[in-house]
Amino acid sequence: MRGRLVAGNWKMHGSLAANQALLAALKARLQAIEGVGYAVCAPFPYLNQVAAALEGSPIAWGAQNVSEHDVGAYTGEVSGAMLREFGCRYVIVGHSERRGLYGESDQQVAAKFMAAQRAGLTPILCVGETLEQRERGDTDAVVERQLDAVLNAAGVAAMANAAIAYEPVWAIGTGKTATPSQAQGVHEFVRALVAKRDKELAAAVSILYGGSVKPGNAKELFAMADVDGGLIGGASLVADDFVAICEAAAN
Ligand code: 13P
Repeated sequence: MRGRLVAGNWKMHGSLAANQALLAALKARLQAIEGVGYAVCAPFPYLNQVAAALEGSPIAWGAQNVSEHDVGAYTGEVSGAMLREFGCRYVIVGHSERRGLYGESDQQVAAKFMAAQRAGLTPILCVGETLEQRERGDTDAVVERQLDAVLNAAGVAAMANAAIAYEPVWAIGTGKTATPSQAQGVHEFVRALVAKRDKELAAAVSILYGGSVKPGNAKELFAMADVDGGLIGGASLVADDFVAICEAAAN
């Protein structure tokens, strides 16, 4: 049985004081449950604070970006090894905001995915279509192109230590969630793409849904056969909401 995972993506939000209150609440309220993982992905400057605050809790932590290079003259970049040295477990790669706002290509995302794994991190690979692409009927083609870039570069065996997140761009921060059956349709398609290369790894890889997941819709999304958890933006900044979403994944 594949694991469930609920990961918070704080994006560029937070302050020392706000983080402390949020992390203390999560630590107090989230219990370890067999087969369910929790994580928070914070901005780089706060990772040390997050690590310290979550020590001894079942909540892992991650970064939101990583360099595709291991070391060198890359001003402003952060390597996987640096993250790993602090105890980082996860890193989000290919988030639509990185692809859309910072021009990350499929190839660069694949290189980041591989750099994360070289450093011992577990990448959470984001894929997803824009509204325009969905309306043109291109959802499958876009998701396939994004996923294949990674599978071709890293090899399907890399899926043993990765999670995939389907994040339709039109559902991110818009309050517009994919319906459970829309999400299930794409998740099933993603799993089938992995299965074409390796059935066992496809059955084992966790596929998260992201895009306006809230306490009120988490349960029905997580009830779908191929939805193994969530990547949570806005609601991960509110302790009550994030805890409720984690509880929905545990039930
Ligand atoms: P929202 O949950 O705020 O829609 O963000 C989703 C997301 O982009 C998580 O990575």
